[in-house]
Amino acid sequence: MSAAIVQLRELRCHFASGEGLLAAVDGVNLDIKAGEVLGLVGESGSGKSTMGRIIAGLQPRSAGDLIIGGQAMPRHYSRRQFKAMSTQVQMVFQDSYASLNPRMTILASLQEPLWSQGVTGAVARDKACYWLERVGLPQSAGERYPHELSGGQRQRIGIARAFIAEPKLVICDEPVSALDVSVQAQIINLLQELQTEHNTAMLFIAHDLAVVRFLATRTAVMYLGEIVELGPTPALFEGPRHPYTARLLAAHLDGNIKARKVIAANTGKAAGHKAPLATDSGCRFAPRCPMAEPACSANPPWLRPTKVDTEAACHRLADIEILKLRK
Ligand SMILES: Nc1ncnc2c1ncn2[C@@H]1O[C@H](COP(=O)(O)OP(=O)(O)O)[C@@H](O)[C@H]1O
Ligand code: SF4
Ligand SMILES: [Mg+2]
Repeated sequence: MSAAIVQLRELRCHFASGEGLLAAVDGVNLDIKAGEVLGLVGESGSGKSTMGRIIAGLQPRSAGDLIIGGQAMPRHYSRRQFKAMSTQVQMVFQDSYASLNPRMTILASLQEPLWSQGVTGAVARDKACYWLERVGLPQSAGERYPHELSGGQRQRIGIARAFIAEPKLVICDEPVSALDVSVQAQIINLLQELQTEHNTAMLFIAHDLAVVRFLATRTAVMYLGEIVELGPTPALFEGPRHPYTARLLAAHLDGNIKARKVIAANTGKAAGHKAPLATDSGCRFAPRCPMAEPACSANPPWLRPTKVDTEAACHRLADIEILKLRK
């Protein structure tokens, strides 16, 4: 089994609100292994971006441990610590403008991660030129500024910037959601090629389940700050155990428009739910769960092994497994 690049232990991120502390990430335990593609899915507001940003050092956690490359990370980084961490972890954002300085040429932007590692001059420039070509852009694009490129081209640069300094983990947060459908597949293919070529671990956050099924070795399903199901992608997609995973898959993969509408209407934001208060107890899915029983709201469920090599956090896992076997 490959070593873990990132280990999250009881990771929490709480935001102050008028009603109390909102738990955007609430007690996540997760390992990201060397070279794997871990998909992270869940509806809007479930805490996926917050988790990615904490791992990338862009958001301080409230509690718990973040271990990168075997080293415990501080909650707040000094410049030096951030620099050291970012040699291991890089991020590709949904908004391709976010990682690019509008006043820097593309070639300079590409070299920036190298400069911060002390690689400068012709070596950095040559490497940037190589990466420009590797992500499918002509050398002339190097002299341009971010606003002169299309969204797809900018995202290619964002990807080159993430990979150029050879990090161990690249976090992609909805990397194609803002792009034209016609270029989404090209960008996904590019990410897959680079991931394979460099054996870089990838945390791939997306609401498009088909893309996650295509790319990810393992998949984690997040619901209101917690991981409710985790496991090898084929097993999880073919035999979801958690009622929330089952509902998410039914809505997206079967093209069941009605179910999709129900989910949209029930998403945290659409239904007026916010991230749960840090003091809430019991299963968070209980108000929407067709299998819920009174005991579900008494105690929080925890991840337990299923019969199909996944883990699911549901008090009624044993009943669900029996139902699946009967089918
Ligand atoms: N900086 C912030 N301040 C207050 N609340 C936040 C902040 N960032 C995220 N949240 C809240 O945390 C929850 C999780 O958000 P997010 O991580 O963006 O979810 P996702 O990426 O799954 O859509 C949401 O309820 C969101 O409103
Ligand atoms: S613990 Fe209960 S409410 Fe939660 S998912 Fe399982 S059956 Fe549903
Ligand atoms: Mg997000």
